[in-house]
Amino acid sequence: MKRRQILQYAGSSVAAIALSRCSKVPPETDLVGRSVSQSGALVVDLTAAEQTLTISGQSAQLLTYNHQVPGPLWEMQAGDTVQVNFTNHLADPTNLHFHGLHIPPTGRADNVFLSVPPGERQQYQFVIPPEHSGGLFWYHPHHHGLVAEQVFGGLAGPIIVRGAVDQIPEIQAAAESILVLQDFDLSRRGRRREPMPMFRRWGRQGDLITVNGDRTPTLTIPQGGLLRLRLLNASPSRIYQLRLNDHPWYLIGIDGGTLPEPVELTEDLVLAPGNRADVLVAGDRTPGAYSLVSLPYDRGISDMMAGMGHGTHTHRQRAVVAIAHLQYGETIHTVPLPSTLLASPVLAPPSRRREFVLDHGIDGAQSFLINGRGFAHDRIDTRVELGTVEEWRIINNAGMDHPFHLHTNAFQVIRRNGEPVLLPAWQDVVNVKAYATVDILVPFNDYVGKTVYHCHILDHEDQGMMGIIEMRQPNGHARDI
Ligand code: C2O
Ligand code: CU
Ligand code: CU
Repeated sequence: MKRRQILQYAGSSVAAIALSRCSKVPPETDLVGRSVSQSGALVVDLTAAEQTLTISGQSAQLLTYNHQVPGPLWEMQAGDTVQVNFTNHLADPTNLHFHGLHIPPTGRADNVFLSVPPGERQQYQFVIPPEHSGGLFWYHPHHHGLVAEQVFGGLAGPIIVRGAVDQIPEIQAAAESILVLQDFDLSRRGRRREPMPMFRRWGRQGDLITVNGDRTPTLTIPQGGLLRLRLLNASPSRIYQLRLNDHPWYLIGIDGGTLPEPVELTEDLVLAPGNRADVLVAGDRTPGAYSLVSLPYDRGISDMMAGMGHGTHTHRQRAVVAIAHLQYGETIHTVPLPSTLLASPVLAPPSRRREFVLDHGIDGAQSFLINGRGFAHDRIDTRVELGTVEEWRIINNAGMDHPFHLHTNAFQVIRRNGEPVLLPAWQDVVNVKAYATVDILVPFNDYVGKTVYHCHILDHEDQGMMGIIEMRQPNGHARDI
């Protein structure tokens, strides 16, 4: 991130005026199943069930939402009311988490302490605040102990919230593609393989990488226009290191947030599990075909894996994998890159500093620890007051990457290994590399109640690398709303 360049674009205000007559280009996506909110409400039925599907040309027995992988796209506006009528037809208990949404973590909203037994239903209901950030979010199961298995089975679906960023004329006129990245480990007969204990410790990964449940889609860059790529890493453990070959691209947001201005990506785009990226590709180069690829990424376990001698089945991505082909198409509208995006709110100085040390313990159910302790559902690890800003230092004391995630409130990454981050982004998952330190600023806004922070390598979360945070009114009462 240090060598990033700030994009300069001359004359964009003139172009922006001309653009305001353009209507929205419908999203180009091969995602099947899409529910869009109407007159301020989105009501969806969602059923989790095991099912045999064809994925990437091969038969696969997967865990599905509404018989598909990934689950259907939900699209809503900031301010909308959302109701999800959920049915669990799995053999195990499950539940839903709405990753990244700033909504109550209690009641029937984003409550990860709910459990939906097999055969049962649960209605979820919440309001997206009117000032909610526009961005890509996602839903996935969050039943402690079963999260990695269920997400690795295929349970994940994208959520688009339309907000202020979507009102920027250049963004409004851009073509849009949503790419959900998942990986699977299937036998030749299409059955999900049970990971060995070693891979459970490492974090399960599969050799089959899919994009929207398929292999390598071809996307169109409008010549002279913009393609807005919205990527979601919905894999339980895999870290993607993405590169657009021979073509510039510009980051406009990470996770659910938007940057103050587009930033040219001069290094690979690294997406840890749970991370999203909002990127613009400008069709101002030689028309042709360009490929978006994923490179092998070392999560810091290569030593652990070395010498294990796993014949054909090593769970390691050794080759470069094509994620998408980008091909120049016709000019729809001539659209320049926007010169500015959204100003970041200024935070109050932190009223409190805390440290979270990530480390490994002995094998077993509690082998991944935060501040020396594995997860306990009846223990509150961290108590914060509503209306305050805190500075957290996340210290990785282990030889493996651990992407740190906090529910309900997004944070700003301000330092890596003590070095200030030039353009702090709003995000909800930050990868903390082996033996690295990351400092974040977290404003606690709007919602009281208990929720969690955890490593988003979901096997690590299932094995204890999670803590409970309680957000309370300043008077000390944890009043539920
Ligand atoms: Cu994407 Cu607590 O999770
Ligand atoms: Cu989450
Ligand atoms: Cu981890």
